[in-house]
Amino acid sequence: MSGGYPAVETLRWSGDCDGHLVLLDQTRLPVERVDHVCADLEAVWEAIRSLRVRGAPAIGIAAAYGVCVGVQGISDADVGGLYSRLETVVKRLGASRPTAVNLFWALQRMRACAEQLRGAGSAIQIRRALLQEAQAIHAADRQMCRAIGAHGAVLLSDGMGVLTHCNAGGLATSDYGTALAVFFTAQEQGKQLEVYVDETRPLLQGARLTAWELTQRGIATTLICDSMAAQVMREKRVQAVVTGADRIAANGDTANKIGTYGLALLAAAHQIPFYVAAPTNTFDLTLSSGDDIPIEERDAREITHGFGKRTAPVDVAVYNPAFDVTPAALIQGLITERGVISPVNGAAIANLVPHDAASQ
Ligand code: MRU
Repeated sequence: MSGGYPAVETLRWSGDCDGHLVLLDQTRLPVERVDHVCADLEAVWEAIRSLRVRGAPAIGIAAAYGVCVGVQGISDADVGGLYSRLETVVKRLGASRPTAVNLFWALQRMRACAEQLRGAGSAIQIRRALLQEAQAIHAADRQMCRAIGAHGAVLLSDGMGVLTHCNAGGLATSDYGTALAVFFTAQEQGKQLEVYVDETRPLLQGARLTAWELTQRGIATTLICDSMAAQVMREKRVQAVVTGADRIAANGDTANKIGTYGLALLAAAHQIPFYVAAPTNTFDLTLSSGDDIPIEERDAREITHGFGKRTAPVDVAVYNPAFDVTPAALIQGLITERGVISPVNGAAIANLVPHDAASQ
């Protein structure tokens, strides 16, 4: 239980370093609650690629455990073999989804952990250290989510209407979320919110996952189609927008689920504050602006065959970017585990976000 509510166990490790990763299969929610076992590298790659596990922090945690799965089966004497397998595993997992920087951050931490033992550890010692590192990444994410919730809840008051997009909840993290952590904490402080949830085309993370998480916690939830956000704002139903992030550049430009940029523009047009909630490991200070953030393009069938049924003419051209970039100027504040960055600019970010995020 967390705060009196049933915890969402997004993912867990089962066993010792010969164990396996167990995910709550998010492609089956909200209809079925089914565990998905990942016992080899390809299973972890497939689970990330197909969004069985998704959301930037959860992808990073899954990849860290994916490294532990990927280096299994190497004889204890073959330390050289372990290091070369590690490189193969890191490369493969790094090719699963390109936008969320947490994936690359976690893989880099796993690699650095193994490097520290180079020349000083047997294969089994290195594998044990890797599992401990993955568990440390997992545990730290829990704490970061709570801290994000505490910093963000201050920005919301009792009776407010708020809007969110995609899913930045427990399912996208270890268990409490980033954007949704802000709502959960506000609720725990006794504030009543009305949360409007964009369904989030094309894969409906808002309808399937966010609406599920919020209603499970007894938060007043209203589901809307993405195209209804402007009207909801015009009718003054919401006084703030809070979303998550997949990668934040050094100047504050933020990549998040496709549709976020449009929401930020709408919020600006209606003088509604637009906030982004994310841990500092979602910042990529190597990129000076959002122009350099790689945007994942996904299969056209997600649009032409929504959930299996053809809804578009055969052979129509399709463009399916999974993320967009919201310029820093449209963001009122970045809610991190270290505090709220506002105004959003390079200097304020450099002040709060450690330059070498991987060494945290
Ligand atoms: O394609 P998805 O479902 O992985 O996209 C997820 C998002 O865009 C989330 O808003 C983001 O990863 C933040 S999760 C705390």
